[in-house]
Amino acid sequence: MSERPLLAFRRITKSFGAVRALRGVDLEVRAGEVHALLGENGAGKSTLIKVATGAHAPDSGVIELAGETLERLDPALARRRGIACIYQQPALFPELSVAENLALRLEPAAGWRRVAWAERHRVALALLARIGAEIDPGREVGTLSMPEQQLVEIASAIGAGARVVIMDEPTASLTRREQERLFGIVNALRREGVAVIYISHRLEEILALADRVTVLRDGQSVASRLRAEVDEATLIRLMVGRDVAQLYPPSESAPGAVRLALRGLCCRSAGGRPVSFEVRAGEVYGLAGLVGAGRTELARTLFGLTPADAGELWIDGERVTIGSPQAAIAHGIAYVPEDRRRHGVVLELPIEQNVSLAAWRRLFPLGWLRRDRERSEAREFVRALAIRTPDTETATANLSGGNQQKVALARWLATRPRVLLLDEPTQGVDVGAKSEIHRLVRRFAAEGMAVVLISSDLPEILGMSDRIGVMRGGELAAELPGGAGATQVMSAALGQPVEGTAA
Ligand SMILES: Nc1ncnc2c1ncn2[C@@H]1O[C@H](COP(=O)(O)OP(=O)(O)OP(=O)(O)O)[C@@H](O)[C@H]1O
Ligand SMILES: [Mg+2]
Repeated sequence: MSERPLLAFRRITKSFGAVRALRGVDLEVRAGEVHALLGENGAGKSTLIKVATGAHAPDSGVIELAGETLERLDPALARRRGIACIYQQPALFPELSVAENLALRLEPAAGWRRVAWAERHRVALALLARIGAEIDPGREVGTLSMPEQQLVEIASAIGAGARVVIMDEPTASLTRREQERLFGIVNALRREGVAVIYISHRLEEILALADRVTVLRDGQSVASRLRAEVDEATLIRLMVGRDVAQLYPPSESAPGAVRLALRGLCCRSAGGRPVSFEVRAGEVYGLAGLVGAGRTELARTLFGLTPADAGELWIDGERVTIGSPQAAIAHGIAYVPEDRRRHGVVLELPIEQNVSLAAWRRLFPLGWLRRDRERSEAREFVRALAIRTPDTETATANLSGGNQQKVALARWLATRPRVLLLDEPTQGVDVGAKSEIHRLVRRFAAEGMAVVLISSDLPEILGMSDRIGVMRGGELAAELPGGAGATQVMSAALGQPVEGTAA
């Protein structure tokens, strides 16, 4: 690892109106190092990398690459100079093959259609092999999973001679295996002398992967340390400025009557299988399982997105049919989806309108909008969830990713549902906000909500659940008490025998 930085940010500032997103950030990244960037939601991480990729022009400050100051950086120039960013949702052409997509990126535009197929295939194969990705270059990109498309993006960055590869929360929706594969690739990039900037809210990931860690707080870099110098508690303190109790709030109330009951419920036409369980008022029912075990599909059926075509659904002792999300909302079911950008919030609308959107009937019983009521409700959530924004009139699109996630949560909590379905509610959320969300979920449960919590974060499932349903292959493989251990849950998720249960 060389000591001279390959990429240096010098006194970078960037404001959006009154919001000072970056206030003089200094950051040095060396060749052959994995440099983790962390900080609370809204600290300025994504903004900083958008400056490096030329997507945002800084108000002041400069970027140096290998000692040379890059003037007026734009996306095309950044790419040409070897700065690449891997996005969670890659921008590839779905109807073209992997090899064609790579060729499009790497071959000069004019000669694109004339190049020999065999040669193109060979180049793609070599690039994919270099990062250890086993993907057939002949496959149509549309048939690849998102993580596989990410690998194609990485291959394309390497092929284009990237010297700096930036990853902004790349593992947010990866299975454990895909995650391990990505880590292998990050290590391969490091060996090739590439500088990797890695953004994540998962501290264990950062501790496992990074050579150096920089913490951003309020648009400033507050510390830059070698991996060996930090542990999880140090990182949290640097990030939040105080200690955050990693303890889960205890269950305060005895569960009441059965609120939600599924009896062989499923959407056959969407490939679902019958599922039965009950959730009581005041109970948090954790749904564990591997990614792909059918948890999100079940939530979508409960919310009427893929309506059930078999089995029964009961709410508060009444049999109901949920044929659409409107019907679900009318019956007091709320769903905070995993993919918040597509389904969770309306990005163009202000925070306050997102909060009142689904809660119209509760907030405005007389039927007409009251701005003051809407605003005070939104302000309450902004405070409770520590949503980082100048005011509640700000468009949700202008918030950082994690803060958008909190708006999605507020939107559905505001409906005061009887049944709350949460799908990965703390993904992409910083450690401080995560514990606020846990407290809020507990509080709403104590007020009588039945909560179904889907999470791939095992400590979260174990810490929050009164009971745990483990799904596997679209079915409920086991039901465990809240005090179950991690190994019990994992065994059930993997289809191994679990002691002390009738699976
Ligand atoms: N296009 C924009 N318009 C207005 N404000 C913006 C815009 N982009 C970012 N901001 C603001 O800049 C600040 C920094 O946001 P940024 O997205 O960089 O945070 P982040 O550290 O990536 O957070 P997260 O962990 O939630 O992704 C936030 O206050 C955000 O609301
Ligand atoms: Mg971000």
